[in-house]
Amino acid sequence: MILPIYLYGQPILRQEAEDVTPDYPELNKLIDDMFQTMYESDGIGLAAPQVGLGIRMVVIDADVLKDTYPELEGLKLTLINPEIDVLEDGEKCTREEGCLSVPGLHEPVTRIEKVRVNWLDKDFKEHEQVFEGFLARIIQHECDHLDGILYVDRVAPIRKQLIRNKLNNIARGKVYCDYKFKQNKPQKR
Ligand code: NI
Repeated sequence: MILPIYLYGQPILRQEAEDVTPDYPELNKLIDDMFQTMYESDGIGLAAPQVGLGIRMVVIDADVLKDTYPELEGLKLTLINPEIDVLEDGEKCTREEGCLSVPGLHEPVTRIEKVRVNWLDKDFKEHEQVFEGFLARIIQHECDHLDGILYVDRVAPIRKQLIRNKLNNIARGKVYCDYKFKQNKPQKR
């Protein structure tokens, strides 16, 4: 089932999400729905708050980028209750990011591309792994969503000024988006 994606301006995107418990109802179906929703909207990662759910869960499939980043081939991750440590010895890079909750924008963000991640898979089995490169960036972007942070919060102040109107327009419902979404109705002036 394709779920509507909550856009910039929806309060759920600004809330701290809660841990997922093993008795969460129909978790496997939700995971399937999140992957399906992500593929339908050509995304490479999706966090539960983006479909209106305040729980700590992220899905990632960045196989489409395998020509540029061969390490992403066949990679498909479900992260439940992830905890990430950014490792200071990683490489600091600035690259463009986008977000399904912020349609029509791509902005450069500086991050250290090395993280250690602890998470549970869909069977609640524990994992720990160090990720580097673009994948480390995707993981940070998605896990930020669980703390109510959007990548546009992390762009340089000068760029933030430049995109302010666009963000306000999205929040007011003045937005074009070719996938199913949830946003406030356009406001009349
Ligand atoms: Ni995002």
